[in-house]
Amino acid sequence: MSGAKNAILPAMAASLLSEGPVEIVGAPLLRDISTFGTLLGILGAEVSRTGNGDGRDTLRIAPGVADKAEAPYDLVKTMRASVLVLGPLLARYGRARISLPGGCAIGERPIDQHLRGLELLGARTALSEGYIEATADRLKGAPVCFDMKTVTGTENLMMAAVLAEGTTVLSNAALEPEVCDLARLLRGMGADIEGEGTDEIVIRGVRSLRGVRHEVMADRIEAATLLLAGAITGGDVTVDGADPFGMGAVLDKLRETGAEVSAVPGGVRVRRAGPIRSVNVKTAPYPGFPTDLQAQFMAYMCLGDGFSIISETIFENRFMHVAELRRMGARIDVSGNTAAVKGVTNLSGAPLMATDLRASASLVLAGLAAAGTTEVLRIYHLDRGYDALERKLRSLGADISRVKE
Ligand code: EPZ
Repeated sequence: MSGAKNAILPAMAASLLSEGPVEIVGAPLLRDISTFGTLLGILGAEVSRTGNGDGRDTLRIAPGVADKAEAPYDLVKTMRASVLVLGPLLARYGRARISLPGGCAIGERPIDQHLRGLELLGARTALSEGYIEATADRLKGAPVCFDMKTVTGTENLMMAAVLAEGTTVLSNAALEPEVCDLARLLRGMGADIEGEGTDEIVIRGVRSLRGVRHEVMADRIEAATLLLAGAITGGDVTVDGADPFGMGAVLDKLRETGAEVSAVPGGVRVRRAGPIRSVNVKTAPYPGFPTDLQAQFMAYMCLGDGFSIISETIFENRFMHVAELRRMGARIDVSGNTAAVKGVTNLSGAPLMATDLRASASLVLAGLAAAGTTEVLRIYHLDRGYDALERKLRSLGADISRVKE
């Protein structure tokens, strides 16, 4: 099991707040992590990695003086999570210039909640030539209530508030385990923060934060993707290091489909011998069913014994995998943010095009269960969030290999 991408990226951003080096233990080899490392380098930090690339490497980040507190367009456009440096740069250096992230394949992805929250803490923001320019003398704690649950919005505001003067209360905060992991890291650095994992996070500003060694949480989306590989192929898969806490919604759904799901010492086990029962899924903010597993679960439902209604309530365009799954013989009708999946007895292998990170994982899962050979092209999308997925699947008995495109 690798460390969670969506916990490591905010942790890397948080290192900008620290006077001393921050060590993040459990880093897989992911494109987004190396991209974020490049960004931190541009911001004057020194980033190094030690380990043997087994998914448990240690990143060491020593922040420098960010004389150029700017996240350039050509980097931000490849990784929206770059927006996570906004809060720390403002808190530490009083200024930041971030290319306004454009939309991405799955949706428009605005950052209005991030900007409104930072303005409530006293920052002044302006948009010029596609860049957000933000300045603040010293951020002042204030109440901030988010219009909707936003994971990186909550994380950005947490990182801005820990060095602000006075108390900040974040209401309607995101509850994701990755948000809690960030709070644990910030507390380890000396921040005064409580309430993570609830709707209200209270942060009392401190003068400075120190370096720390932080063991990052396991990647629950990777774990669930591997468990779904077991379920879709009628196999018996145990994912070591998977923590059932934080995966409740997807494990419950797996049980509803007739799969046997059990917590075993140090991991989670899934077995599926009988038919796949079609079930309905509606994505929701944590602790609801994660949008990052919607595509993978849809692949599984393509082989269900009836109808499965899948609603995507978080992002407006996260059904790009549907057209590709149809090429394998899947029966899926989409109307707005709802997909009706009529299970078929089998899928047939085909050449497919990956469009975004989680959609590419969905196509790999479908390929594992399909008759014949499936080729997934443009798997640079996959490499953004999965570390050597084909190696892990091969160790489970899959006939899968990476070939030159
Ligand atoms: C995080 O993205 C994750 N990324 C996403 O994972 C994940 O899908 C998403 O949370 C939802 O769980 C990281 O943690 C790096 P949001 P984020 O802000 O924070 C709207 C993956 O595959 N919104 O929680 O960008 C937004 O448009 C990635 O690993 C605003 O309108 O998502 C969306 O509809 C994909 N204004 C909803 O809120 C804002 O200012 C939730 O988005 C912010 C968000």
